[in-house]
Amino acid sequence: MSRQAQPVPVSPAALPQPVRIGIFDSGVGGLSVMQAIRARLPRAELLYAADTAYAPYGDRSEEFLCDRSERIARFLCEQGAQMVVVACNTATAAAVARLRATWPALPVVGVEPGVKPAVAMSAAHRVGVLATTRTLASEKFRKLAEAHANGATLVLQPCPGLADAIEAADALGSGLDVLVERYCAPLRDACVDVAVLGCTHYVFARALFERALPGVELIDTAEAIARQTARFADDLVDRGDAQADASPAPALRAWSSGSPHVLASFARRWLALDVAVRDMHC
Ligand code: DGL
Repeated sequence: MSRQAQPVPVSPAALPQPVRIGIFDSGVGGLSVMQAIRARLPRAELLYAADTAYAPYGDRSEEFLCDRSERIARFLCEQGAQMVVVACNTATAAAVARLRATWPALPVVGVEPGVKPAVAMSAAHRVGVLATTRTLASEKFRKLAEAHANGATLVLQPCPGLADAIEAADALGSGLDVLVERYCAPLRDACVDVAVLGCTHYVFARALFERALPGVELIDTAEAIARQTARFADDLVDRGDAQADASPAPALRAWSSGSPHVLASFARRWLALDVAVRDMHC
């Protein structure tokens, strides 16, 4: 299908500072990326969109994910975002190329499983990758693995149901431990010494992964994404000034295509963050 590049819905040059960064995920997982971006760019204004009505993304088709990603990126730009972070490995694998082709002038940061750092860290040359079914089946992941496996054995473990369970969990018990144990057992059997948390939701269950994989180094890419986001933000505003300013961080604005309550109460319980979440219709 041939597609035409389109202008960014709102011109970045016309927008006020500080930089406004749109971030989205299928649900709460991208909050782990949002937190890392907030720590690195405390003066940035963050706009978070959770596509809860259409989660989980891990079981969706590529075309569906492209369509949702385009709608949400457009929505975030209409709210003033000057750049977009796809805080979801699954949506990145399916749609990041589409977003860049549609809006060549819009900086878009994607998230992908940290195979490269994991392989570099593995003394046993055995690395586990925990991610959604869709991420692991994607062409983008195949190319990533091919480019960076570097002779190491990659043990790929799809985790259907896990993102949903994290979304619904009140705390780290709540049956989550059983699911994490089920998906970690094959990695233990394969004697991996490094495992990649290849879904932004899984970061919230990190303590359970640590328990299920004793002695195994866990890799997530939130920090690397925050660094990349800061580089892009640097091109948009003078970040040096922003960092030096000690005024309080601007409010985080958030939207959900599903129940705003789910996102708000997750942010309160897990991040001690009070966020007013509005309905997102797109
Ligand atoms: N948080 C998303 C990711 O990083 C996906 C979770 C889902 O299946 O919706 O892949």
